[in-house]
Parts: sequence; C-alpha cells; structure tokens
Amino acid sequence: MTKVTVVGAGNVGATCADVLAYREIAEEIVLVDIKEGVAEGKALDIWQKAPINAYDSRTVGSTNDYSKTANSDVVVITSGLPRKPGMTRDDLIETNAGIVKSVTENVVKHSPNAIIIIVSNPLDVMTYQAHITSKLPRTKVIGMAGILDTARYRAFLAEALDVSPKEIQAILMGGHGDTMVPLPRYTTVAGIPVTELIDADKLNEIIERTKFGGGELVKLMGTSAWYAPGAAAAQMVEAILKNQRRVFPVCIKLDGEYGIDDCYLGVPVILGRNGVEKVIELHLNEDEKALLETSRTHVKEVMTVLDNIAAK
Ligand code: NAI
Ligand code: 2OP
Repeated sequence: MTKVTVVGAGNVGATCADVLAYREIAEEIVLVDIKEGVAEGKALDIWQKAPINAYDSRTVGSTNDYSKTANSDVVVITSGLPRKPGMTRDDLIETNAGIVKSVTENVVKHSPNAIIIIVSNPLDVMTYQAHITSKLPRTKVIGMAGILDTARYRAFLAEALDVSPKEIQAILMGGHGDTMVPLPRYTTVAGIPVTELIDADKLNEIIERTKFGGGELVKLMGTSAWYAPGAAAAQMVEAILKNQRRVFPVCIKLDGEYGIDDCYLGVPVILGRNGVEKVIELHLNEDEKALLETSRTHVKEVMTVLDNIAAK
C-alpha cells in the first residue's frame, strides 16, 4: 500500500492532500495538524468528495498523533506560519525552525524510511533544519519551491505568448526568494527557444514578476498562495511513488555540484523512488554563475541565522 503523510492541514497541506487523493497518487493520505480537529475535519471533507469526483484514495486526519503516520513512504511538511504582507520568508525562521524540528523528529520516529519533502518557509533553510534533524541522506530530505517558481514563470510566459501552459518547458535554480535564478537559455516553447518568440524586455519583465511572484499573491490575499504550492508538492510525491524519474528543480544540500558545498539550493534533479536519483549539473555561463553565487550567499546567511538560533 502506498501511504503519504502531510503535516500541516492549513492552506497548502490540505490542498496537497486533496490533489493526492483526487488524482489517486497514494492509496492512503494522513493529514496531521496541531490544531484540535482540523486535520480530521479536512480529511473527512476530502473523503466525502470521493463519490462526487470518483476516486478511492483514503484520507485520514490526526491531531498530532504520529502513530497514524507510521510507515509512510513520503511525508510532506507544510506546518508553520505563512507570511503576511510586509514580511519576507526569512522573517518566519525562528518560529518555523522549531516547528519543523519537532515535526521531523516525530516523522522519522514513525517512518524511518520515508522521503521527506519540505514546504515550510524559509524553504531552503527549513530543508537544512529537517535534514540535520532527520539524519537521513541528503537525497531523501528535499524542498519544494522550484516547481512552483517555474510554474509561475511558465504561466506568465503562456499568457504573454497566448499558448497553452503545457507547451512551456523551463528550469530555474537557486534559493526560493528574490534571488532565485530563472534561466531563459533553458526555456523552450514546444522545443523552440523562448528568445525566438518574445522580445528581451518582455522576457525580463516576466523574470522580475516571477522573482516576486509569491509576494504578489501575499499582497492580494493577505497570506501566501496554496493552490499551486499544494499541487507542486503533490507532483513531487507522484514522481517518487511512481518512480517517474521526472526532471524537476528541487532544493537539496549541494555537495560540490556547481562548485558549491554545504548549501541548500534549488537545482535540477531526477526525482524517483529513492528521492533525488541524480543532481543534474548544467553548464552555466558567467552571468548565470554570478546569479547563483548571489543566491548561495543569501541562503548561506540565513543558514547562519539558523545556526545562531540553534546555538542559543
Ligand atoms: P497555514 O497557516 O494555512 O497552515 C499551516 C498549518 O500548520 C496550520 O494549520 C497550523 O495549525 C499547522 N501547524 C503549526 N504548527 C504545527 C505543528 N507543530 N504540527 C503540526 N501542524 C502545525 O499556512 P500555509 O499557507 O499552509 O503555509 C504553510 C507553510 O508553507 C508556510 O511556512 C508558508 O510560508 C509555506 N509555503 C511555502 C511555499 C513554497 O514554495 N515552499 C509555498 C507556499 C507556502
Ligand atoms: C510562495 O512563493 C510564500 O513561498 C511562498 O508563494
């Protein structure tokens, strides 16, 4: 039986559980939250939708009882505060680090073989937190951000070019924040380099909008996004459970790739049954390398903030 746990039954976690259920990605989905009754209620609501949308995945809710999560194949961690207008993702670090640490301890105790996908922000540094807490190999503790950031970029491009979003293939690297590194050189529309179809100014405008894509939604809604983030996390779960070996940008600890050591950054990987099966190393040009270095410096600074919190 395939079993997935989603911790945090808020906006992103509940959306992820819903996608996992209605697309029948896992046979059993356990939703966990610290707030009494919320996970049970949302799991029941998703289950009651099954006859309408015609799926048979089971959803189970739990208020902080991790025994129900035992032997999960994949665990998605979304627990933590989302940002409010005026906040950066990094402002969430102290609260969310404590939450991610305690959740990871519980997860690993009950599902020692699970692959863990982090969603909580600040994403790259929460992946660091979960990785050191779990003591699992780096290939099994990974962060979701690149699929979401790339999806925003692809959606903006589809709109500008008036083509189906399905036709846009793209990759994006770096940290999940304003220093993310979109790569127009690796963006195609059904195989056609995007630069042949759009002028440079419009492309730059889209790149800038993508970098601040999360903030745009926070400004509109007073909290951060959930439909695309929840679906993006579910897409990673699917690639793992079905051993699809899909190529996605995923946050992982770099161990020398791109000349970078000991930093958690988004890079293209092959995602399959064992988590990250391979980190793909692109041949970046000097400009792209410089952008990645800016991103690395930023993530490293926030990792140091976490180290200082942990040292308190
Ligand atoms: P939300 O506030 O709707 O849900 C968070 C849930 O976590 C709440 O239900 C809360 O009760 C629960 N929670 C808090 N502490 C917990 C604990 N110790 N154990 C279990 N559950 C606990 O927030 P939302 O919108 O779902 O966002 C969740 C996180 O994901 C935030 O940190 C947000 O910034 C991040 N995020 C990351 C994205 C990414 O691309 N990586 C995209 C969107 C959101
Ligand atoms: C986003 O990009 C807030 O990280 C979240 O929507």
